[in-house]
Amino acid sequence: MIQVRVRPGVEDKIRGFFPWVYKPEIIGYSKKPEPGDLVVVRDYGGRFLGYGYINPQTNISVRIMSFEKDKPIREELIRERLKQAYDYRSKLYINSNAYRLVHSEGDFLPGLIVDVYDQYAVVEFTTYGMNKLRNWVIPALVDLLKLKGIYEKVNEYAASIEGIREQGGVLHGEVPEEVTIWEHDLKFIVNIPEGQKTGFFLDQRRARRLVRDFVKPGGECLDVFCHTGGFALSMIKAGAKSVVAVDISEDAIKVGKRNAELNGLSGIEWVQANAFDFLRKLHSEGRSFDLVVIDPPSFAKNRASVPNALRGYKELLVRGLLLTKPGGYLAIYSCSFHITREHILQTLTQAAVDVRRQVRVVAESMQDLDHPWILQMPNTLYLKGVYVEVV
Ligand SMILES: C[S@@+](CC[C@H](N)C(=O)[O-])C[C@H]1O[C@@H](n2cnc3c(N)ncnc32)[C@H](O)[C@@H]1O
Repeated sequence: MIQVRVRPGVEDKIRGFFPWVYKPEIIGYSKKPEPGDLVVVRDYGGRFLGYGYINPQTNISVRIMSFEKDKPIREELIRERLKQAYDYRSKLYINSNAYRLVHSEGDFLPGLIVDVYDQYAVVEFTTYGMNKLRNWVIPALVDLLKLKGIYEKVNEYAASIEGIREQGGVLHGEVPEEVTIWEHDLKFIVNIPEGQKTGFFLDQRRARRLVRDFVKPGGECLDVFCHTGGFALSMIKAGAKSVVAVDISEDAIKVGKRNAELNGLSGIEWVQANAFDFLRKLHSEGRSFDLVVIDPPSFAKNRASVPNALRGYKELLVRGLLLTKPGGYLAIYSCSFHITREHILQTLTQAAVDVRRQVRVVAESMQDLDHPWILQMPNTLYLKGVYVEVV
């Protein structure tokens, strides 16, 4: 196996279980590596630090999968990690037949995402190295979960950085175009091949339950960036009289309408529009709501796009606050790890001052329990939510 030596000082963070080695931290190889090669990482003096895989073309060059000398990367290790991931989820009260089985570094399988929708799994290989291990991963998943089918989705952003050329599609068995899942007391249609991400935003399951606590019986709610109606349906279920639900995706709105029917729920006005324009329009019409939920897509895919993303957040918050009735609630989320909790709090503070409305924080949320994050990499906690009362 290729040996990778790191600069003096880098060993401390790796011994502290930080799983990435950046390109400038490497001082030499025993042999020129190819993308996806398995490597042993050693400190300057040659002492063992971990086993990983390498992509010499990317800034994050090595991802370490094992810090134990007697556990090199083999098929058994992949099987052991998948079993651990499954055992952890089995103990949780998720209250759904759809869950994230593998959350990349959070499950010590960097570059691998596995979401389970009833009897089907959707996989994403987001690094060159993990993609190369697919012939160990897929049979292990089949054996572990006795699935009817596995579908691969390609994360275009990761694939372009890593140089992955897979096309995606069915990898095992058969996968229907739509699967119906249940979450708490609601059913949702998930379109695996065409839907966004792996098909459904599983990470917001907790928030969709929490939001119910803020619904005023008979109240009016607004679900901004509603996708297929996760929050909107939860609000009606919790006793709201009406919900206005807006999303730019026509497909998501269509599925949202079908989800409402599937659950026998009425009272949702579905709007296909750009949220920024639509919020302005609602305000100009003098509308206001008891609860406003704003769950935007990731506006900041990298650090350079943070200032622009924050301008977007500011506008959404200003509009959202103006649309919230006195004594009503507003919830805002960021699913980008570059937009931190502190960014949200600062932007909320500024927006509240701009519109002369006092707010107080009543709750916070994060990605649900099946998306564990690791302390060495605070960015594995990517989803944050803040809930305020608008005085
Ligand atoms: C994080 S998802 C929302 C998830 C949803 N709350 C749920 O629980 O399923 C973000 C959504 O924003 C939508 N979107 C992206 N840009 C938009 C825009 N400019 N206006 C309205 N919707 C947009 C996407 O289609 C996507 O459905």
